[in-house]
Amino acid sequence: SDMEKGTYPYYMLKEIDEQPATMRRIISEYTDETGAVAVDQELLTSLLASDRIYIIACGTSYHAGLASKQIIEQLSQIPVEAHLSSEFGYNMPLLSQKPFFIFLSQSGETADSRQVLVKTSEMGYPSLTITNVAGSTLSREATYTMLLHAGPEIAVASTKAYTAQIAVLTVLAKAVGEAKDVLSAKSFDLPMELGIAANAMDVMINEKELISQLAIDYLSTTRNAFYIGRSEDYYVSMEAALKLKEISYIQAEGFAAGELKHGTIALVEDGTPVIGIITEAVTAPHTRGNLREVESRGAHTLVIVSEELSKEGDQIILPVVHQFLRPLVSVIPGQLIAYFATLERGYDVDKPRNLAKSVTVE
Ligand code: AGP
Repeated sequence: SDMEKGTYPYYMLKEIDEQPATMRRIISEYTDETGAVAVDQELLTSLLASDRIYIIACGTSYHAGLASKQIIEQLSQIPVEAHLSSEFGYNMPLLSQKPFFIFLSQSGETADSRQVLVKTSEMGYPSLTITNVAGSTLSREATYTMLLHAGPEIAVASTKAYTAQIAVLTVLAKAVGEAKDVLSAKSFDLPMELGIAANAMDVMINEKELISQLAIDYLSTTRNAFYIGRSEDYYVSMEAALKLKEISYIQAEGFAAGELKHGTIALVEDGTPVIGIITEAVTAPHTRGNLREVESRGAHTLVIVSEELSKEGDQIILPVVHQFLRPLVSVIPGQLIAYFATLERGYDVDKPRNLAKSVTVE
């Protein structure tokens, strides 16, 4: 069953492997035979009446919100802000006239997110919880709910929930954009593009041998590490770094590539691993330049790069997918790097110290 590891040594590896199938399940759950997306009509009406979407979440779910901001804005033409629950509740920004709140929570039980939902509901604002657990607290208390359909996620380090959150938000944004007659939404063939992304995810998952070798070469003894990137690649860097921190205990940071030279580059020493994520043609030369800057200070650099932007040197090559869906594929090497670095360093992948699967206290 879904709750068993089967032949897998750890749930995390099983859950990484389940991501392409989860994408295909999301396609079949949220589209009809003609390929049209199907989303609750009242939810759609409520979103169409809103002037801004606030995504509220913690940890990996927050990172999925960040990675989805651009996709939602492009497809729906509604501005999006992503916020950390624990900050938003007590330091609320000046809200727009017609805010709509989206709570992203794998477990649906996160206390930090719930305190925001309680407040925004009291203020009378509509909300949607996107969760993996039907009937969870956050899904019961929000106005609307959508399911991730990722199957139970057991490993403390979240993997398939992240990619499922991005995919479900894409479904939602496509539905809103189509209803508004937005050209970029109408021309976005969701089942086809998500299907291509699922196949690309399979390609990454089949690179375990290479990725495991690189994880050993780069991370078996280091004290710290950096992931760097720009825009979407920056957001994915944050998620890849969180994965590394929580299970391998390597002090890792996901950093905006251009910002490194404004201070943090002082931490780069001989042998410091710096992993660049590069999927965007416009910013690729800049991030490459930032990698050369750290190399000249002794950094050990590796790139996770889209096929069409690849060069020589140590690299993990990402198959080309629709630009909106790049984070679905570029996050997988980061998940696998964390997994293999943790195995190499001899820790329990599924049960890291100091952490619980869902955080039910503020
Ligand atoms: C992810 O690997 C973490 N264990 C953690 O950051 C998690 O994403 C966060 O606690 C939010 O959980 P939720 O999605 O269940 O609300």
